[in-house]
Amino acid sequence: MCSCILGHAERGRRQGLKPTASETQPCSSGLVIRNAQESDLLQVMHINRTCLPENYSYGFFLRLLRDYPAAFLVGETEGRVVGYVMCRIERTMSRIERLRARKTGHVISVAVLPEHRRRGLALDMMTRVLEVLKQTYGCAETYLEVRVSNKEAAELYEKLSYAIVSTERSYYIDGEDAYIMARSLK
Ligand SMILES: CC(C)(COP(=O)(O)OP(=O)(O)OC[C@H]1O[C@@H](n2cnc3c(N)ncnc32)[C@H](O)[C@@H]1OP(=O)(O)O)[C@@H](O)C(=O)NCCC(=O)NCCS
Repeated sequence: MCSCILGHAERGRRQGLKPTASETQPCSSGLVIRNAQESDLLQVMHINRTCLPENYSYGFFLRLLRDYPAAFLVGETEGRVVGYVMCRIERTMSRIERLRARKTGHVISVAVLPEHRRRGLALDMMTRVLEVLKQTYGCAETYLEVRVSNKEAAELYEKLSYAIVSTERSYYIDGEDAYIMARSLK
């Protein structure tokens, strides 16, 4: 278990104070979280294909990185990228308040390689990216989609104060429903 990563996340939850995403914070396990670079994208694509059925083209990852570079983070150990989170900034109707337009941080994808899970990496990357969405991009809220069967991811998001706000029927290509989970960033 990476105590300093969990320590950071715990501190962040208690105080509402988190480091900026551009800080790299090595800890005892060697895990570091930093902004993604274009040279990371092949490794990010490998993680995405290993961990999720929702896969994207190189151009899709590159577009997100170029458009919202501060909201694309990777977790690294011994020079190898083992996790990522990437987001898009959208102007949409609020998923929390009725009839309100909101600048919103859409978490497009988050994943950690199986052998590096349960060490707090996803929690720490998400904690940091939420701070970036709020501070750097001025988002008032954030949302994401999660398969209704993906209990571990839903638990992660609940820990980050996301709540289920609706269900999208047959959202995924295999017909599975998605929960839409959202939270305020104010
Ligand atoms: C979901 C995922 C990103 C979590 O990554 P991780 O680095 O292992 O998560 P963390 O160690 O930060 O876990 C934080 C919390 O999330 C919850 N959680 C994570 N994995 C869990 C699991 N397998 N079972 C139950 N809860 C889990 C727990 O509450 C955990 O806190 P705890 O370890 O103190 O109990 C990872 O399992 C993954 O890549 N899954 C496949 C891809 C995916 O489903 N992405 C989300 C798509 S919506």
